[in-house]
Amino acid sequence: MKASLTVNKKFPVGEIDKRIYGSFIEHLGRAVYGGIYEPEHESADELGFRKDVIELINKMNVPIVRYPGGNFVSGYNWEDGTGPRDKRPKKLDLAWETIESNQVGIDEFQEWAKRAGTEVMMAVNLGTRGPDDAKNLLEYCNLDTDTYYANLRRKNGFEKPFGIKTWCLGNEMDGTWQMGHKTAEEYGRAATETAKLLKWTDPSIELVICGSSNLNMPTFGEWELTVLDHTYEHVDMVSLHQYYNNHANNSADFIGLSVHMDQFIKGVVAICDAVKAKKHSKKNVNLSFDEWNVWYHSNGEKIERWAEKPHRLEDIYNFEDALLVGCMLMTLQNNCDRVKCACLAQLVNVIAPIMTEDMGKAWVQPTFYPFMFASNRGRGTTLKSIVECDSYTEKNNRYDIPYLEASVINNEEKRELVVFAVNRSLSEDMELNLCFENFEDTIANEHVMLYNDDLKAENSAEKENVSPVNVEIKDEKGVNHEVTLKKHSWNMIVYKY
Ligand code: AHR
Repeated sequence: MKASLTVNKKFPVGEIDKRIYGSFIEHLGRAVYGGIYEPEHESADELGFRKDVIELINKMNVPIVRYPGGNFVSGYNWEDGTGPRDKRPKKLDLAWETIESNQVGIDEFQEWAKRAGTEVMMAVNLGTRGPDDAKNLLEYCNLDTDTYYANLRRKNGFEKPFGIKTWCLGNEMDGTWQMGHKTAEEYGRAATETAKLLKWTDPSIELVICGSSNLNMPTFGEWELTVLDHTYEHVDMVSLHQYYNNHANNSADFIGLSVHMDQFIKGVVAICDAVKAKKHSKKNVNLSFDEWNVWYHSNGEKIERWAEKPHRLEDIYNFEDALLVGCMLMTLQNNCDRVKCACLAQLVNVIAPIMTEDMGKAWVQPTFYPFMFASNRGRGTTLKSIVECDSYTEKNNRYDIPYLEASVINNEEKRELVVFAVNRSLSEDMELNLCFENFEDTIANEHVMLYNDDLKAENSAEKENVSPVNVEIKDEKGVNHEVTLKKHSWNMIVYKY
């Protein structure tokens, strides 16, 4: 099969905001307890954080981590996770039917974030609580004033403010499963009043309002229009969440689902801009795709109620999941003019690229690798990709799926063009012609491939079946290049100029 990909230095999509390589840690299952925090583990530091897990997170180069939920945040009292640990209450978490010990809260999490070389993206509870608690939390985290909550932080041992810059106004408030679920009108009003108080407290922060929980919500579209109508001038981003599954066991359609993700993004951009036009506003509201991933392997698991740190949502990912994750990352990169933040949900143990054994090893799933390369090497300016290739039609005839998914990032500092590409064909290799217009002569420097003949191949603590390999480069200096992409493979090819 033949395909071509052309970019031109003068046609950028936009500068990548590093926050698109964010992730997410919720108080859920063993994400916190047994994941990032296990004081008895041999690698634990003096605060109880697993250093082996931090090492893996460092490899992923995650610039921001959303916390503490997710559904959990909608019933959370942030004060429970601050101050002396022996005085912290154990509470019921109604979102996941577990017991929360509160041994980790914002006091500890911001310390962990520093150690993991990342920033916190903080979500506030707009389910069972409201503007007052959100404003108090912001004062606790960010203010240097001689006032009650800033002083409470000092009393708890933190003289300097935490300086958290990105804040989510609740979580999935359109969903009936959410504690304190609201109609769009109710949420629009609550989010506006909370946004006002938060920006008056600290004008330097950025605020994210809840969009739809996924593109298939019956309220999609109306929800965004109504909520944005209320909040437009007070907020910076609207959230999108989407998880994909391969219950149908149709690999071709499954790895094409990033086309659906692209449609979701473009739809929300259109809605933001419609509200902008209606309001004669000068500002843009951008997008925070703050929950995205593959999630289905653990569906239907049995739940024991009121357990502490149970094994929950511990999906074991396979190679085709990594292909889709790779394609979704390219979709985020190709929409970087409007997607300013995105969080792979989640980071450790819960639908995650990093897994831990209780008191044992930490290991990585196949999905770890496309993320690691995208985050480390996909920094700079995305160029507009012109792709010519064959496509196939999704089984419900909803959209066409091109065999080639690709993104091209121009890193001017390093003088390199980084091409990410997936050949979606399940049977044929692809001869790809690349053309870099308006660049001086370029030469291939590196080709990394993720491939396994078996789309269902998995990794485990014992054995890594899916891991990247270096491909031999045969290339001449020039504007045009030929590269072979193996059938159903993920690739990163780097050209120097
Ligand atoms: O990431 C798991 C859950 O998925 C989150 O708690 C919720 O926001 C979403 O439905």
